[in-house]
Amino acid sequence: MSEPVPRLEERCCEEPLMTTSSDADTLIARYDEVRSHTETLAAPLSPEDQTVQSMPDVSPTKWHRAHVTWFFETFLLAEAEPSFAPFQDTYWFLFNSYYEAVGPRYSRSERGHITRPGAHDVGLYRGNVDARVRDLVTTMDGGMLDKLSATIELGFHHEQQHQELLLMDIKHVLSVNPLQPVYAGSPLPRSEPDTAGWVDVEGGLVEVGHPGGGFGFDNELPRHRQWLEPYRIADRLVTNGEWMHFMADRGYARPELWLSDGWAAVQAQGWSSPFYWTELDGVWHEHTLHGTQPVDPGLPVTHVSHYEADAYATWAGRRLPTEAEWEHAVVADGQGDASVAGGNLADLQTFHARPAGPATGHLRQVYGDCWEWTSSSYLPYPGFHPAAGAIGEYNGKFMSNQMVLRGGCALTPPGHARLTYRNFFPPGARWAMSGVRLADGGVPA
Ligand SMILES: [Fe+2]
Repeated sequence: MSEPVPRLEERCCEEPLMTTSSDADTLIARYDEVRSHTETLAAPLSPEDQTVQSMPDVSPTKWHRAHVTWFFETFLLAEAEPSFAPFQDTYWFLFNSYYEAVGPRYSRSERGHITRPGAHDVGLYRGNVDARVRDLVTTMDGGMLDKLSATIELGFHHEQQHQELLLMDIKHVLSVNPLQPVYAGSPLPRSEPDTAGWVDVEGGLVEVGHPGGGFGFDNELPRHRQWLEPYRIADRLVTNGEWMHFMADRGYARPELWLSDGWAAVQAQGWSSPFYWTELDGVWHEHTLHGTQPVDPGLPVTHVSHYEADAYATWAGRRLPTEAEWEHAVVADGQGDASVAGGNLADLQTFHARPAGPATGHLRQVYGDCWEWTSSSYLPYPGFHPAAGAIGEYNGKFMSNQMVLRGGCALTPPGHARLTYRNFFPPGARWAMSGVRLADGGVPA
């Protein structure tokens, strides 16, 4: 059996860019906000819900709750707390995701075997670490606070990554339950499909990558130049209705549309529709966090692999954008600041991609809705250096055999999406909330 493919939670510790310094009260307020949100997301789930690992890529909810706690315990308390001792020695083994420098860890694919500690015990662990973090931050001197504020900030973003993963993972857990439980809310009203438009982008010598002055992971650095030929990019995501045309035209049965590895995956795994689609009495249905509902042709297609996205683009006579094209197009369209542009992120609690809405002449659905596959392999930017120390232990090792996605999804916490964020998954991954935006013209870098 081959080594499990690294996934999002296993690359959580990229070194942050320095952020503006924060005082203790501000850090504690932010800490409490982030930590309590994790518990809010887990609140609708029973201890049994929180224990299941429905496939190797999925981690149990209570594991996410414990692991993000382990992060603060390991990289903050163990570094700075006087007379530090772990809450439980065994938790360092159970909830270490991948840090060899910290010690051995439990098998990722067997996290569902951890029936003990239970969900309640994980809550006690969280409460203990929370109290110790508050005590530490409020009593440390200014110099120590400045030294550790970047680690604390990293802990916030790490936990936000896991908040998104918690929702993606519980979506799969509930999907395999024959009762098809609902996580939250009710389905969106049916939407009206519209026609996709195009936004022309001049290209030229452009700069991409994190500009500094705020949080970012080190894989967003260094900012650097890229040459882009003139191109155009779709003003919205590909819809379910458009995907149905691809299926009706035998898109999953025509090898000429597929990359070789993609066609092998189609055959080996029997793909004939997006990941969460099921045909019931001749009608396609989609599993969502709101339950199973008829596929809405006006919503963006989601939970498709890079292979499927690429095959669709080939079928449509288009292509996927490169990550530099995506980033530059968003800047050129005046949407570089995610906090201003907004989008269908987790704070709206749709927990699903929503319709594009009326055409505006600008790019729609940039932030949120679905992570957008690009044609770019996940590689280091020119001049990239992995972070030093255990906290950046494996930054570079994920930079092979994965593809970059941009923009965020409906499960991404607000404040966690940004222009230069480079998400990445293996090209065959389908359980993440991933979608498709087409590009045309130009020459892919
Ligand atoms: Fe993690």
